[in-house]
Amino acid sequence: MKKLKATAVAPSNIAFIKYWGKKDEILRLPENGSVSVSLSNLLTKTTVEFSSEYQTDKIIINKAEDKKEARRVINHLDRIRDLAHINEKSKVVSSNNFPASSGLASSASGFAALTLAATKATGLSLTEKELSVLARIGSGSACRSIPNGIVEWKEGKDSDTSYAFSIFPPHHWAIGIIVAIVKGEKKEVGSTDGMKLVNTSPFFKERLLNIEWKIKKIKQLIKEKNFPLFGELLEAEALELHAITLTTRPAIIYWQPGTIKVMKLVQKARSEGLLGYFTIDAGPHVYIICEKKNVSGLVKRLRGIEEVRNIIVNEPGEGARIVEEHLF
Ligand code: PMV
Repeated sequence: MKKLKATAVAPSNIAFIKYWGKKDEILRLPENGSVSVSLSNLLTKTTVEFSSEYQTDKIIINKAEDKKEARRVINHLDRIRDLAHINEKSKVVSSNNFPASSGLASSASGFAALTLAATKATGLSLTEKELSVLARIGSGSACRSIPNGIVEWKEGKDSDTSYAFSIFPPHHWAIGIIVAIVKGEKKEVGSTDGMKLVNTSPFFKERLLNIEWKIKKIKQLIKEKNFPLFGELLEAEALELHAITLTTRPAIIYWQPGTIKVMKLVQKARSEGLLGYFTIDAGPHVYIICEKKNVSGLVKRLRGIEEVRNIIVNEPGEGARIVEEHLF
């Protein structure tokens, strides 16, 4: 029998303009478009094998078998089996090069790697757009982990028009993305549940009114490499996302004490001429974007914060790709 096996690596991504809220829960169609960057050093590697020898799907993520995670993965494999017209069960082994419990959008890199490896293993040969659409149905922001560099996700009108594509290659801009992993309990409310609450925030409608302008503006500032204005917009956008989560009912507070310490550190460093700006997803960790020449200065300051558990330095990276070396 032909071997239906393939391995892919995919990056995590951090959004400059955020996706928060869906207009279709099942298809994961977002309320608004978003812009992100693929991260060079936060990667998921996944091997998928389909075989008639397997009686059930076996899903191993970071050396463990988790029933809830497995269900979402198997649902995604079913979509791919339908597309490829195969029935074989599979073995999936996936591992992150960053701590699993750190809540660093592992679902984005995870579903991007799974989508590419599983489609390749079945012999399907999808375009980047088709891969992005499929990854989106698995986990929204995963669609942005398929293309290279700086990426835009158009919200689209339907499933086929809601996908991400590269707007600038990784080398377009010499920026660093420093991830400060902050101490604290595991994230309380996942993004799927958090997003369901958006319409209970009095500010959500207002946010949607300005989002197209913001996307246009940030793309222009990236093109011009206008770092200070880009950074101001980035930071304002992150705080706006949290203004929404803080004002839904029930409210969600994603920050930990260390989160606020890092935000303050970034603003203080800036007032002293060391330029960096922060962004934060639905979790406590802080992503600091700076020009490359300022990475070491900012990392040095971050080391002085006791609540910072780990520091991971990234640059804009490549999207999902097939690799030869399998995990099993
Ligand atoms: O696709 P999800 O469920 O990982 O949601 C991502 C939501 C944010 O990370 C908060 C924002 C974003 O655009 O990535």
